[in-house]
Amino acid sequence: MSAELKRGLEGVLVAESELSYVDGEVGKLVYRGYDIEDLARGASYEEVLYLLWHGSLPTREALDTFTAELAAERDVDDDVLNTVRTLADAGERPMAALRTAVSMLSAYEPESDAEPSDLDATRRKGRRLTAKLPTVLAAFERARQGEEPVDPDPELSHAGNFLYMLTGTEPDPVSEETFDMALTLHADHGLNASTFTALVIGSTMADIYSSVIGGIGALSGPLHGGANQDVMEVLYEVDDSDKDPVEWVKAARDAGRRIPGFGHRVYKVKDPRAKILEEKLRDLSESSGDTKWLDYTTAIEGYLTEQGLVEDGIAPNVDFYSGSVYDSMGIPMEMYTPIFAMSRVGGWIAHVVEYQEDNRLIRPRARYTGPKDASFVPIDER
Ligand code: CMC
Repeated sequence: MSAELKRGLEGVLVAESELSYVDGEVGKLVYRGYDIEDLARGASYEEVLYLLWHGSLPTREALDTFTAELAAERDVDDDVLNTVRTLADAGERPMAALRTAVSMLSAYEPESDAEPSDLDATRRKGRRLTAKLPTVLAAFERARQGEEPVDPDPELSHAGNFLYMLTGTEPDPVSEETFDMALTLHADHGLNASTFTALVIGSTMADIYSSVIGGIGALSGPLHGGANQDVMEVLYEVDDSDKDPVEWVKAARDAGRRIPGFGHRVYKVKDPRAKILEEKLRDLSESSGDTKWLDYTTAIEGYLTEQGLVEDGIAPNVDFYSGSVYDSMGIPMEMYTPIFAMSRVGGWIAHVVEYQEDNRLIRPRARYTGPKDASFVPIDER
């Protein structure tokens, strides 16, 4: 059988989906038809989860029920929190700690014996995971700071409760709204690498925990979700150096370095999520009077645009601006990629359930380039 080889599966369609559409030529993203800009500005993360999981935007009443159900699942068993503390003490990396914690959460899953084909059970498990990820992450970050975990508050929104558990203080409305917007922006993005990973695992009818663990692993890489922390590290690197941002980016390009937060497999123009986050960063910088990260990111983007990189399709992606927004809110850098996971878990679950409704094992092939007729030599004669 001869088939065309597509390195990195570029442009290959492997499934149908009604969840999200990315138009990389014009820089447009929709979730179930709704423009990301409208959702980011007008809908909460809970509304977006409802949209992705249930197929339509909720009524006020449906949203209230959904929000209460989600909030009721936030508690995490003390044994898991103790393990999270052990991982923090051992210096484990946050995404690896999250992966381990999700594995352990599975031991406390009340429906672990449900049949893989019971998609309602999968949906409920997905809801539990989505509710518990913020609790695990906030506890991990607090343990890293030598602090005890803060119990979730079911009266707070998904975004507000995470910030509360992270800091021990109820967030101000601007921080809550900004963080909620960031969660909405990261919730889904077609068959990106982590969603595809979750889907491959789901296509074997393995349990949803395995899909989420796989998604976390894929998202942790610097070519995917890890880029948001890398961008912030670059901004601090510039700040600590004697170079201005343009000198830094010039030297980085001369040294053949990739600039984190630029380039995308699908977008050939600026990512619409980056535009929204850039605007948010501008608002936050103007209201605080500290425009440093805005100045740096603007200078780097301006230089790369002048150099023709953006015109060549290597434009700012979502990760270029998310880190500085989080930094402006006082969120530690090590939390950026886990926050991406805490949001994207909604998309992973939606895609796996959608795919399993009409499942077929995902099993591509590699073009074999090795020998086909090697003569076997027993070990003692080699
Ligand atoms: N800086 C400089 N050059 C770049 C960059 C960059 N950030 N990204 C791509 N290029 C160049 C690359 O060197 C290559 O040039 P040439 O053809 O001359 O060798 C060309 O663009 C194509 O690159 P590619 O790696 O084949 O493209 P890809 O579609 O496989 O990779 C990417 C997409 C996102 C992995 C890549 O752009 C990248 O490494 N970006 C930096 C990391 C990053 O920001 N990742 C977050 C992606 S968006 C959020 C998410 O999904 O998590």
